[in-house]
Amino acid sequence: MEVKPSKPDSNETYDKFVDCKTYLVDGKLKSWSGKSSDVFSNIYTRNKDGEIKPTLLGSIPDMETEPALEALDSAVAAFNRGKGKWPTMRVGERIKCLEKFADKMKNYREEVVNLLMWEISKNKSDSYKEFDRTVDYIYDTIEAYKEIDRKSAKFEKQSGIYAHIRRGPLGVILCLGPYNYPLNETFCLLIPAIIMGNTAVFKPAKHGVLLITPLLKAFKESFPPGVVNILFGRGRKIASPIMKTGKIDVLALIGHSSSAVALQDLHPNKNRLRLVLGLEAKNPGIVLPDADLDLTIKECISGTLSYNGQRCTALKILFVYESIVDEFNKKFAIAVDNLKYGLPWEKDAFLTPLPEPHKANYMQDLIHDAIKKGAKIINKKGGTLSHNYLYPAILYPVSTDMNIYHEEQFGPVIPIMSYKDIDEPLNVMAASEYGQQVSLFGNDVSKIGPLVDILANLVCRVNLNSACQRGPDVYPFTGRKNSAVSTLSVHDALRSFSIRTFVAAKDNPKNNKIIGSLLNSKDSNFINTEYLL
Ligand code: G3H
Repeated sequence: MEVKPSKPDSNETYDKFVDCKTYLVDGKLKSWSGKSSDVFSNIYTRNKDGEIKPTLLGSIPDMETEPALEALDSAVAAFNRGKGKWPTMRVGERIKCLEKFADKMKNYREEVVNLLMWEISKNKSDSYKEFDRTVDYIYDTIEAYKEIDRKSAKFEKQSGIYAHIRRGPLGVILCLGPYNYPLNETFCLLIPAIIMGNTAVFKPAKHGVLLITPLLKAFKESFPPGVVNILFGRGRKIASPIMKTGKIDVLALIGHSSSAVALQDLHPNKNRLRLVLGLEAKNPGIVLPDADLDLTIKECISGTLSYNGQRCTALKILFVYESIVDEFNKKFAIAVDNLKYGLPWEKDAFLTPLPEPHKANYMQDLIHDAIKKGAKIINKKGGTLSHNYLYPAILYPVSTDMNIYHEEQFGPVIPIMSYKDIDEPLNVMAASEYGQQVSLFGNDVSKIGPLVDILANLVCRVNLNSACQRGPDVYPFTGRKNSAVSTLSVHDALRSFSIRTFVAAKDNPKNNKIIGSLLNSKDSNFINTEYLL
């Protein structure tokens, strides 16, 4: 059921219209004179004709296939099958480019945060956190790369053969990020990809796209031509034709597996297409009989509802031991109903509007399906619908025939199941298509110990008495089954976007002299034992 707003969400008039008519290709900000697409916020304001409508924030180029393929060719030329200036450059020189970019990026903090709030309705403190975390990620990446480089600054000798082993780039990367972290997660792919010597074509997510536009100039001024190319428009006109050329070496995508599979299928040489993917998850919270309920509820609130549950790491189903489920449900329902809903910039707003226009209706469909099959909404405010929001609904008891049990809701609906035997949630997890993380709430070490041994094989992070989350970004972020391919973290991402490659030479006077001269002459950027500080 569509609900029409009777008054605007905000009385503000949006006066920062961003009319983006450029894209970045081959180190140039090219003008776009073709069709544009309007970008709207799902926050409603009164427009200039007095109507209450989604707020018009700006416009972006609706690019066609031909310029997208030109951008691809510029990335291909900059990599030049490994012969380009960028992939053969000294590590220290590439790092200088990234430092320059980070310095410039910091100047756009307010602009980007404002757009994060309007475009994807992320609350103010989380929007600042996303920006700052991304800048920190860049500096941490630089330090991690220096560390990797320092460890490679040597010759090893085995069986009479010297080896100088480094990590080299893979080629041309197609980089596609998600709407829920349009800055942070896209940059967690793009930054390690390029610093390792790859070149990239990057298309921002559908929601959270304008916030990339202030950074176009910083990219242009910081990196050599062709290293970073930024395009705007629809996936089918841009990403699909790019994949069909077979010129992409790595598909780096955070989003849904359906998009990853569809893009992969278009590549003519799948055997050599590397994948770095962060995909769906259905992370469970398991509440053991002796869990500290106050702490568990606090963690389950942040786990299920931070950014309205629109996080791949969100807790998407709770399993509560049957003897405590009533008490848990009672306390949890009160805690959820006490959360503050507001516009992203309002003080202490925890719940905010949903950025996708039809999301609230999808949430409602999940609820109706569950109610039809025997669940109830157990919190008083649960399921209250407005034009762009649905107040978080806790559903209990949930059963395996309900859509909410299977689907990754990515929004404010919280299914709860009770269990008698711990094998019940374990079997659900073992049978699940997903395997990212789990939260385990309890105190009894003799119960927790053996459970951890199993859970660690079902997912890739077991959170004890804590909500699931990706951070701190130095820890490995990955998943089993349909949840991920490759590992991301400050350190692991550098590995994911590179391959070990080395120079070997038999130990003999002639070779030793050549190596000695190469090290002294600095004729090679690869062979060097310089210690990067
Ligand atoms: O959407 C998935 C994100 O990687 C979650 O990150 O746990 O820091 O919110 P987070």
